[in-house]
Amino acid sequence: MDQLVIQGGRKISGIVSARGAKNAALPILFATLLSDRECTIENVPNLADISTTLKILRQMGVETTYDPTTRLATIRAKTVTSPIAPYELVRTMRASVLVLGPLVARFGQAKVSLPGGCSIGARPVNLHLMALEKMGATIEIAEGYIHARCRSLKGAEIEFPQISVGATENTIMAAVLANGRTIIKNAAREPEITDLAKFLNSIGAKIQGAGTATIEIEGVEKLHAGSHRVVSDRIEAGTYLIAGAITEGDVTVENIDEDLLGAFASKLRSSGCDLTKNGTGLRVRGARKILPVSFFTEPFPGFATDMQAQFMALLTMAHGVSVVTENIFENRFMHVAELLRLGAKIAVAGNKATIEGLGDSGRYLSGASVMATDLRASACLVLAGLAAKGETTVKRIYHLDRGYERMEENLTALGAEIRREKDPD
Ligand code: EPZ
Repeated sequence: MDQLVIQGGRKISGIVSARGAKNAALPILFATLLSDRECTIENVPNLADISTTLKILRQMGVETTYDPTTRLATIRAKTVTSPIAPYELVRTMRASVLVLGPLVARFGQAKVSLPGGCSIGARPVNLHLMALEKMGATIEIAEGYIHARCRSLKGAEIEFPQISVGATENTIMAAVLANGRTIIKNAAREPEITDLAKFLNSIGAKIQGAGTATIEIEGVEKLHAGSHRVVSDRIEAGTYLIAGAITEGDVTVENIDEDLLGAFASKLRSSGCDLTKNGTGLRVRGARKILPVSFFTEPFPGFATDMQAQFMALLTMAHGVSVVTENIFENRFMHVAELLRLGAKIAVAGNKATIEGLGDSGRYLSGASVMATDLRASACLVLAGLAAKGETTVKRIYHLDRGYERMEENLTALGAEIRREKDPD
């Protein structure tokens, strides 16, 4: 297992480019199952989750190629020999459940391992299943697997009682080949949903309203070939902006539009940092005095839960008290215990974390060994390590590799002292 060793206290400055969004690429790769023609997907990040996705497609008999240098994937799902997503793969990546919609829509059946809980919450898939049932699928849970069947899905009106990114994506994918019109109400509005719809429309789907709370899909008989470029990763971009902010540095992230960042952008400004448009991207200049900022996580365009941990790293250094409320996942404060090891002052009560910034005390975070527990918690700990005095070792960084391509190389290019090594433990 690898670990990252960081010598903190260096200013992070320079230019880094946002890659394609993992959370857009995953549903788009699964959506290629809906067409029997070749789809070419550009800007697919070279990440562990992408390899898992391609493995799932290949073991279903789908032809795939991926070039990690050009980040180009080609997929052709002429047919599917085995409409199964097995436990061994689903347990490493929950997003595998996104094969359900496309498989049932095109092949009339799917067998997908139930994902189970994960470190950030229980994360049930009841809304995905409810939507498919409304469209006429029969769902059975047996021996840890979801078995979904339907001769032909029919359009339906589906109102989600709670906003879900994955359930919205699965429903869109199921509806594009269903008979008739599907209306999704209380749909997720994340940029990754808009990107999925853009791809599907480019290969012949009829989806309107993606990016709003009501999405209408007119089912079509067949989709054709096409190509698509994946939208930039707003969470990766936000993470590098925090790297600039937390080290009082000056970082430009190329290929990112402020509109993709939602409430994160205004909260970063509230912390005293200067965030401006710079060419195709955004530039942050860190503030000498970081101000406290309180926020709660919400579906897009609210503050993204996927940026909560990283922003908290910044707030540990603020001059004053911040309160962070996590409204999306019930267990997404696992990074707090590790930040405490670095000297942060944080108290958690239920879904609220109160952060007493070290700014006024004249103290700093100080390096230590910490353990990554999930993807964004890992990023938070790397950011805290960049700001901490002395050496920080972040262990179990396989989580980080699921969502950030060569983070240590990017940070080194920006002036950080960070190296990857084998964990001797
Ligand atoms: C997506 O997960 C992202 N993953 C997550 O990113 C992100 O944190 C999350 O959306 C919220 O923005 C991908 O896109 C691959 P949800 P998803 O369904 O779709 C509850 C990262 O770090 N819920 O919007 O699984 C659920 O438990 C990852 O990159 C149900 O109750 O999230 C949660 O509380 C982590 N029943 C809330 O809804 C359901 O059937 C929102 O989850 C589905 C969800």
